[in-house]
Amino acid sequence: MDDRIEELLAKLDLPGKLRLISGSGMFRMAGDPALGLAEMPVSDGPSGVRGEHWDERDPSVSLPSGTAVAASWDPELLAEIGALIAHEARRKGVYAVLGPTINLHRSPLGGRHFECFSEDPVLTAEMSAAYVTSVQAHGVSACPKHYVANDSETDRFTVDIQADDRTLRELYLYPFERSVQAGAWMVMDAYNSVHGVTMTENRLLDEPLKGSWGFDGVVVSDWTAVRSTAGAAKGTDLAMPGPPMLWGAPLEEAVRKGEVPESAIDEKVRRILRFAIRVGALDGEPTPAPEFSDAQAQELVRRAAAAGMVLVRNDGVLPLAPRTEIALLGPHAALPRFMGGGSATVIPAHTTTPLEGLEAVLSVTHTPGVRLAEKLVPVPLELVTDPETGTPGLSLRYLDGDTVLDTQHRTAGNLMLFGDKKAAEAGAIEIRARLRADVAGDWQIGVGTLGEARLELDGETAISETITFEGTDPVGAILYPPQRSVTRALADGQEVEVRVTVATPPAIPGLGVVLGLTFGVTRPQRSEEEEFAAAVDAARKADAAVVVVGTTEQIESEGFDRTDLRLPGRQDELVAAVAAVNPRTIVVVNSGAPVELPWRDDVAAVLLSWFPGQEFGAALADVLTGAAEPGGRLPTTWPARIDDVPVLNTTPDNAGALRYTEGIHVGYRAWLKNEVAPAYPFGHGLGYTTWELSDLSVTGRTATVTVTNTGDRAGRQVLQAYLSREDSEVERPVRWLAGFRGVTVEPGASETVTLELPARAFEHWTETGWAVEPGAFTLHVGTSVTELPLTADIA
Ligand code: BGC
Repeated sequence: MDDRIEELLAKLDLPGKLRLISGSGMFRMAGDPALGLAEMPVSDGPSGVRGEHWDERDPSVSLPSGTAVAASWDPELLAEIGALIAHEARRKGVYAVLGPTINLHRSPLGGRHFECFSEDPVLTAEMSAAYVTSVQAHGVSACPKHYVANDSETDRFTVDIQADDRTLRELYLYPFERSVQAGAWMVMDAYNSVHGVTMTENRLLDEPLKGSWGFDGVVVSDWTAVRSTAGAAKGTDLAMPGPPMLWGAPLEEAVRKGEVPESAIDEKVRRILRFAIRVGALDGEPTPAPEFSDAQAQELVRRAAAAGMVLVRNDGVLPLAPRTEIALLGPHAALPRFMGGGSATVIPAHTTTPLEGLEAVLSVTHTPGVRLAEKLVPVPLELVTDPETGTPGLSLRYLDGDTVLDTQHRTAGNLMLFGDKKAAEAGAIEIRARLRADVAGDWQIGVGTLGEARLELDGETAISETITFEGTDPVGAILYPPQRSVTRALADGQEVEVRVTVATPPAIPGLGVVLGLTFGVTRPQRSEEEEFAAAVDAARKADAAVVVVGTTEQIESEGFDRTDLRLPGRQDELVAAVAAVNPRTIVVVNSGAPVELPWRDDVAAVLLSWFPGQEFGAALADVLTGAAEPGGRLPTTWPARIDDVPVLNTTPDNAGALRYTEGIHVGYRAWLKNEVAPAYPFGHGLGYTTWELSDLSVTGRTATVTVTNTGDRAGRQVLQAYLSREDSEVERPVRWLAGFRGVTVEPGASETVTLELPARAFEHWTETGWAVEPGAFTLHVGTSVTELPLTADIA
């Protein structure tokens, strides 16, 4: 391959080389026709492949988010998911998927917590390695991100992380090290700085990434993270998005002046050519894509969602008998979160809500009890008709004065223009639709966008305002623009002609317009008190109550950190009131990260669903009825109260620094050190059978243990191996995860499980590199960080 790369490089002049090291579009790497190199689309990402465009006409399979996947503790499941990701990528012509996200859950406030796997580096690393290996086995590149220490969102473009070398090596760098060992072809560097230097120019790109780890792939910048022209002399190989701003022409001048050596550019081009050969964009045929029918994809997503659901409490109420009469309550029962917000968003063709899923198997009475009215719902398709086509949907037009530049039939109330060149030529974007009320009452009708916006109802102006964004993060401005709405009393069946217009903002040079535009409605509602009372009443009359609670996009998403761990609105109050009238109350928590559950000991069962992807309802039905086991184990400690959380702060100091003063004591390591009990410990999760562990024996670094299923149905248990070191010369965590292994056992049967512990589990980082303290360690084997019945010496 190296000869081929040199041969191609020799054909390129400086401008040709520079074209290749910057994107040619928002989600596109440049090609070179003379070399036979195709342009290479790339796409987010971690939980589905959106493709180059943010458009419901090009939908994607929505997979469980990072915490949900990691909760399976099942690299083999991730290998199956990797094949589906590769299938989706190929279907969309994508060469690299921008995932997995392998930053750590340092603080539960971190806005992208849902997208990352775990607070533990070993679990994160193993899940990442499985993702990388499986996606790339099908000739599509993975792209572990964000290198490194992008563990929270506050001031994410500028924050300077101060962490000592040992902490970086043992915790934050380790998942990247494993991903490189697994053969990653691309790694994304982060927005933040580490020790005062922005990550796109940081020495950590040379050592350890490209140096001792031997990474020979492409380091791609996070989007807009390239901060200088001269910085091109450093380790970032590819500046995204394109077309170039700081590289390109200014970089050509810098090379000509001798400020950046051409050899540095050559090195980047070599890596990009190597990448192109690997993904089949240059020579040879791409690896055949794995086949998935829609039904196969749905089956896998449903199974994966159930495998990640963590049952943290069950007094025996679960599983529910078929056709149990339940009151299905909570704001997320009918309006759940399938995925987290931000760049991980994909647009699925089909979703199943908890209401839809449970109605198929149980006898359901539903009312939300609490509405989270912070947001208009993008208009449901069944309520709108496109006046141009007469079919369900909206008409989107690009207007230049009175001239219509383009007309599109759209089928989503939430539209995202992301690097839209056509919109750059238009003065305004317009949505038209005929809205038909399906119930009488006061409707909220509104718009979410930025800039000069107007809403007309039946030809009359209802809103005319220049809407500005108060926040600081551009992602938030685009994805969650401010909303304005008006109330209209409508009769059942009444139709209203709706017209929304917004002036196009200035285009980003070469890239086009970036703008979010929502046409939303809220159906008439009971008063807050009536709604709450109706839910409690329904719970009183039912055999069991299922309350689906969760976070909103306004409090948990990319672009900002959370400010507390509470469930928004009156959800805690609702659960408490329901539990008071129905002892068989089951709470499903639909959040990507921990939330406080103050009523947790007063309800019969608590199931954490995370953001489980498009098949949420079907998977939930499987788990609640026992058709599937809740397979998950906590990948992160679940606190009882925010005040107990040992590592919390995500806000940089006045100098812009965020100090990781806790060092290596993150997650359960910090909880153990502080001797504070969380609500539920790392690794914890219940299934529907019972277990006994026995006969731990150790040979070298290999441990075996006997696992017996003492219950009456088959089940999967996750054996977890932790190490500790009493009287150590070195500062250490109380104990740390060294390995894990899942095993499925039939009722009454026993299996012998082998746990291979890697050498690294025994090593610690010193000023001169990795070292092992001589003498014996203690091995603990069990089913969570605090449920460890078996111990043995191991050296
Ligand atoms: C995110 C990345 C993402 C990129 C492209 C950035 O804002 O941090 O994770 O891949 O956008 O969408």
